[in-house]
Amino acid sequence: MSTREMQPERDDPAMRAVAARALDLISGGALVGLGSGRTASVFVRMLGARVRDGFSVTGVPASGATAALAREAGIPLVSLSEIELLDITVDGADEVAPNLDLMKGHGGALVRERIIASASRRQVILVGADKLVRRLGERFAVPVEVMPFAAGPVTRAIRAAGLRPGVRMDATGGRELVNENGNLTLDCALPAPLADAHAARALETSLLAMPGVVDTGLFLGTAERVLVGYPDGRVDTLLRDGVVG
Ligand code: A5P
Repeated sequence: MSTREMQPERDDPAMRAVAARALDLISGGALVGLGSGRTASVFVRMLGARVRDGFSVTGVPASGATAALAREAGIPLVSLSEIELLDITVDGADEVAPNLDLMKGHGGALVRERIIASASRRQVILVGADKLVRRLGERFAVPVEVMPFAAGPVTRAIRAAGLRPGVRMDATGGRELVNENGNLTLDCALPAPLADAHAARALETSLLAMPGVVDTGLFLGTAERVLVGYPDGRVDTLLRDGVVG
């Protein structure tokens, strides 16, 4: 379990507001992808409270930490191999661009988050207003999950592409963090934020083409809507172009 998930911000009003709003999008009997990170954890706990009141849902968790939280909250879980399609996935993000392209993965579960998002009819993202950026990369490096065997060549290739990769370390800072897939994460600082949607896609394509790269934190065109929370409890709904709210 990551430190961020062990210390959820239970009293953050923006997180609670978006999580409560996301509950309105969950129909009885739904198959729900459960993302990871602090905001998704607030949602999981609220969904669990509803389940304990008799509401019926089944979850597929994106990480071991989310699975533990969901079980503790009383949400029945299944694996992806037991179902065909999730109705909805609710997750967090680290940055949200105006076109709803996302940067994710600073909680360390990006591959499984990608898998549940791609197995879902809809991906709904919960963030605080501080996560809205004009261009991806304004606040965070791009996480790239890599097989340990390929870490050397991938690091060199990413450097040659003009980014500054650094291996993510564990909470002690003394050891490389090996995630639950057995992989490493390279946090790749950009020379400048990504100019536009085209630049984000070009970077994603070039990173995914490097042998040994499993996935990146660029989630481009996946979010159907983003719920943005404010400290006063207000929530804005941002819809991707073409989505009718
Ligand atoms: C986990 O790998 C991430 O993609 C999280 O969803 C993201 O880092 C947002 O986390 P918080 O809600 O904790 O900010």
